[in-house]
Amino acid sequence: RIPVIIDCDTGVDDALALLFAVRHPGLDLRAVTCVAGNTDVDGVVRNTLTVLERAGAGDIPVARGAERPLIEPARSARHVHGADGMGDLGLPAPIRTPADVDAVTLLRREILASPRPVTLIPTAPLTNIALLLRTHPEVTGNIERIVFMGGAVATGNATAVAEFNVWHDPEAAAILLTAGVPVTMYGLDVFTRVVVPGPDIRRLRASAEPGARLAGDLLAHRPASPDTDGDDPAGGLGDAGAVCAVADPAGISTRLLPVEVSLAPGPARGQTVVDRRPRPGESEIHDGAREQALVDVALDVDVERYVKLYLETVEAGRG
Ligand code: BDR
Ligand code: CA
Repeated sequence: RIPVIIDCDTGVDDALALLFAVRHPGLDLRAVTCVAGNTDVDGVVRNTLTVLERAGAGDIPVARGAERPLIEPARSARHVHGADGMGDLGLPAPIRTPADVDAVTLLRREILASPRPVTLIPTAPLTNIALLLRTHPEVTGNIERIVFMGGAVATGNATAVAEFNVWHDPEAAAILLTAGVPVTMYGLDVFTRVVVPGPDIRRLRASAEPGARLAGDLLAHRPASPDTDGDDPAGGLGDAGAVCAVADPAGISTRLLPVEVSLAPGPARGQTVVDRRPRPGESEIHDGAREQALVDVALDVDVERYVKLYLETVEAGRG
């Protein structure tokens, strides 16, 4: 099984990602770390513990991480994810409490303790990951790769050009991209496309099994997608697609491309500038000598394949 750690800001679609990771038989979810993003970090910790309990995975360590981005103040996405950050589903408070160490310490400990190199899956602003990479660079020796949900080749969502996770902490994203670890970017270009049809959501919501039922309720609370119609709306997998990309990498098509995060104040702050020219980076005159990371960028996704994978995994119970 692939050892994985999810760093999240649960979050309706982060919750979908956690459910999938717990239940996929090929993934070994070793820890979950929390960061401010969709809601404040204490809300994220609460939501994360609740989801793991519902999924029957109560023993996975969960740690509280950064309260705010490296430089800017925290900004919430409550307008997307509800006042509790998780769709206001009225879920019970968790029974467990978080680990008595902070997220960076837990990340370091679990990465170094893993018998096989770990795949990190950040589905949130990259503050915890940036702090980890800067404070404990020795962890890179036991990181297989980082598959993060964030960025966009084309259109943004937080702003016209910036995706929320990168926009929320652009400096942290820049640190991740230039850390020298293999990185796959599961950006908005693929993120928004993986949508579960309404009838499947209805079936999940009627399930007797609490984890599958939670997945259905969460999908029903995903913001409207272009495929949404009438009484039977479709719901996006969102962050869960990034975990699908680890369990089943052949479901996405990627290209190794130079990517740079725009850090200057102004309308492009937080944009992931992806160089898709036929011979990227050759133009020394225009590009100068700036450090441009090579990132495996997801450009296409097999939507049916991931929807099938998600439903089969979540409905099969704990892996
Ligand atoms: C990302 O932002 C958050 O609101 C979602 O959970 C996802 O990780 C999409 O831009
Ligand atoms: Ca998220």
